[in-house]
Amino acid sequence: MPSIRSICCIGAGYVGGPTMAVIADRCPGVQVTVVDINQARIDAWNDADLSKLPVYEPGLDAVVGRARGRNLRFSTAVDEAIAAADMVFISVNTPTKTKGLGAGQASDLRWVEACARQVAKSATGHTIVVEKSTLPVRTAEAIKAILASAEASGGDRSFAVLSNPEFLAEGTAIPDLESPDRVLIGGEHPEAIDALACVYSHWVPQERILRTNLWSSELSKLTANAFLAQRISSINSVAALCEATGADVREVARAIGTDSRIGPKFLNAGPGFGGSCFQKDILNLVYLCRHFGLPDVADYWESVVQLNTWQQHRIARLVVQKLFGTVTGKRLAILGFAFKADTNDTREAPAIRIAKDLLEEGAQLAIHDPKVEPEQIARDLSLPASEAPNAESGPTRASLSGEGTWWPSASVAAALEGADSVLILTEWNQYRQLDWTDLAQRMRQPAWVFDARSVVDPDQVHAAGLKLWRIGEGQP
Ligand code: NAD
Ligand code: UGA
Repeated sequence: MPSIRSICCIGAGYVGGPTMAVIADRCPGVQVTVVDINQARIDAWNDADLSKLPVYEPGLDAVVGRARGRNLRFSTAVDEAIAAADMVFISVNTPTKTKGLGAGQASDLRWVEACARQVAKSATGHTIVVEKSTLPVRTAEAIKAILASAEASGGDRSFAVLSNPEFLAEGTAIPDLESPDRVLIGGEHPEAIDALACVYSHWVPQERILRTNLWSSELSKLTANAFLAQRISSINSVAALCEATGADVREVARAIGTDSRIGPKFLNAGPGFGGSCFQKDILNLVYLCRHFGLPDVADYWESVVQLNTWQQHRIARLVVQKLFGTVTGKRLAILGFAFKADTNDTREAPAIRIAKDLLEEGAQLAIHDPKVEPEQIARDLSLPASEAPNAESGPTRASLSGEGTWWPSASVAAALEGADSVLILTEWNQYRQLDWTDLAQRMRQPAWVFDARSVVDPDQVHAAGLKLWRIGEGQP
């Protein structure tokens, strides 16, 4: 079986960093170099203090600690690393295009193309190029065309292109990588597929390594995310119906999830899906469907995203309604800004849209998150943080003028000081263990708890004299 001795990964982000760290950890005989054009990111990956890695993932520090300095390197010397590699992973960002053809839906492939051109320029000998980024189906065609022109320009260089999408979820990246449900490899050259399968076979059982053609592999990644997101929009749509009818979405989820054909996972109703990929990948699928003349299929998938956006606006709207129809000048605490627990990632976090809606209404938001930096929240809200007001002081000048403000809170207790309500938007474990009796005394009464993640114990909240709204809970 062909054996790989040197791997280069272009892109040291949420996928490139953890994925390569696990490959290096499990394959001590393979030199793995992760490169990026972002010097600050590379410096952070090289920081001696493992708590300063640029990506927060439980268990990542231990894996990087074992492999870094042995067979795992992080560098900005992109050409050098490509030249030394038998296999190059492309793991760069593929965000939704913001302008031009397909703006708002199609993936922006400029970084992927730049990588293909850089590989074409710098590779030596035979190089297997692996698409790790999530890409529109048939992207490999463009990569192959760029590499073919490099082959044609002479020398003894040759290339094979594989698709090997990544299915890890943030927050569980290390267990997902160490024990994947499956590894998918799409390609045309059996030797290249074998070479990549051989890398994974150091820790992944053979039967979990699936081989397909290139296009099936590329499309399976978009489809997997679309199916997962569809489940969330489905349960969120039912949550709204539960609230209107007296049913409870947790009971409905349990009742349907015990049907082995449906299964229990991904049935938690909440403030809608966030993260860098679900929306982007579905919109990409929608764009592809329209491109290939399938407008009805496009509309079907687009509704999954529309329902998600609706859910976020719906939650902001109902907060305003419950607070006597106005939140202008009122202090509201937001617990959780990350798009899910155990990550510092806020990309497309539901908290962004909900907070923006409330700011628009003139609310004063105290925002707490155990991992997200205040600077990130300011960027996401396009609004710098204000000074935290004194709990005793009345509405500030800004609030009287109707302008929304926000400030970061270092603790849950500080966030709830003087607040009329608290919204729980991320399911951090620490929010499951709050002392509501103590917290209630800090809030202005009558005070509301809006639990969009089903983390609180309703009995404790009620015992503390607080009003409670839980996602998908109708009044019996
Ligand atoms: P990211 O933005 O965190 O990282 C991408 C990195 O690539 C950045 O650091 C950027 O500086 C670097 N980069 C861009 N162009 C470069 C170039 N020409 N040369 C060198 N470096 C370059 O992105 P991510 O979250 O790691 O996602 C990467 C891909 O993986 C995307 O296609 C995404 O859809 C997919 N994906 C992401 C996840 C996830 O959980 N984040 C999971 C599965 C798949
Ligand atoms: C998701 C997929 O789960 C990964 O398989 C995929 O590789 C990745 O996207 C990607 O391509 O980027 P991720 O976005 O990191 O992973 O996290 P998820 O656990 O899927 O959660 C996504 C969003 O859905 C979060 O906002 C989460 O809170 C929400 N969610 C999830 C729910 O609201 N309810 C659920 O039952 C599950």
